[in-house]
Amino acid sequence: MLNHGSKALLGLAGVTMAFGLAACGSDESSDSGSSSSGDSGGSGKIALLLPESKTTRYESQDKPLFEAKVKELCSGCEVLYSNADQDASKQQQQAEAAITNGAKVLVLDPVDADSAGAIVKRAQESDIKVISYDRLIGGGSKPDFYISYDNAKVGELQATSLVEQLGGTDGVKGKQIVMINGAPTDSNAGLFKKGAHSVFDKSGVKIGKEYDTPDWSPDKAQDEMDQAITSLGKDKIDGVYAANDGTAGGAIAAMKAAGMDPTKVPSTGQDAELAGVQRVLAGEQGMTVYKAIKPEAGDAATLAVALVQGKEAPSGLVNGKQNNGTADIPAIIYQPQAVTKDNVKDTIVADGFWKVDELCTSAYADACKAAGIS
Ligand code: GAL
Repeated sequence: MLNHGSKALLGLAGVTMAFGLAACGSDESSDSGSSSSGDSGGSGKIALLLPESKTTRYESQDKPLFEAKVKELCSGCEVLYSNADQDASKQQQQAEAAITNGAKVLVLDPVDADSAGAIVKRAQESDIKVISYDRLIGGGSKPDFYISYDNAKVGELQATSLVEQLGGTDGVKGKQIVMINGAPTDSNAGLFKKGAHSVFDKSGVKIGKEYDTPDWSPDKAQDEMDQAITSLGKDKIDGVYAANDGTAGGAIAAMKAAGMDPTKVPSTGQDAELAGVQRVLAGEQGMTVYKAIKPEAGDAATLAVALVQGKEAPSGLVNGKQNNGTADIPAIIYQPQAVTKDNVKDTIVADGFWKVDELCTSAYADACKAAGIS
């Protein structure tokens, strides 16, 4: 049974961000992300403020899924969309513009989790509700809601899979890896890293080099991997922890340029980006983490529509709370799923996240066949 769409209850009130994401229960939510459907009438403006476009999920999944759900639930509602291209001050301006244009709800995925606190405070002064989307906004603010995946779990899944691919509990001891983490300004990146370290640090694996990657930039990840190869030696690297598929792509490009064979040096990723899943099928990337964006974007839209219509959050949607350092924020959390070439078919393909003809282009035809995808 797939669990990516299930919502996990969060820890009790008062738990810190580091410990608050332990799942202690779940319910089966439909893949559409919410049971609500049908046009509920009404109108209003909802701003969707996403952080960047180098990671493909935002433009290819989050935006269209969110817009479609808003349209389905409230044909008179309008979505004001902006992408900040990884620039926190641009995002601030985009939020200001949305407020000036009459947005009554902000669905905000912050470039910089701390500085975005100012946007939350500014919005709430004008009675505008803020949903902290995918990343938890801090900076002394109290967003009205938070919706995301269990992000520490993402790091644990990545590290557990890499350890397995390096020979498991016994085989991994003494092997050397490079860690390429995400952007230091992204609150999730710290959780991925923490979750990964919780597995690596007790495994006996050696972390030869570790980097935080500004802006999640694949190019910067490639430079980091280049440096690691120069400093450690290309024959001395057994595996690569990359925090998402974009950075994995950069690291794999660096390995290839240095004459390393990525099919022999397992790596991790996240987001089930098309290129990432294709690399997984071809054996060039050891795994990715699949977060079905549909429930996340769909539930955010359902919540935003209720709020723009002046209603309470639909019952059953919010299932926990998460402390952001200032307050417990009512939250909706989903479970991520590890994907290797063995279960691409039963997860990503079964859900229609990517269609067979998108994945199985001629270069990947053999890999698809081997994975039973046709
Ligand atoms: C994280 C997000 C990931 C990935 C990454 C890069 O906050 O949870 O899914 O998109 O940012 O932007």
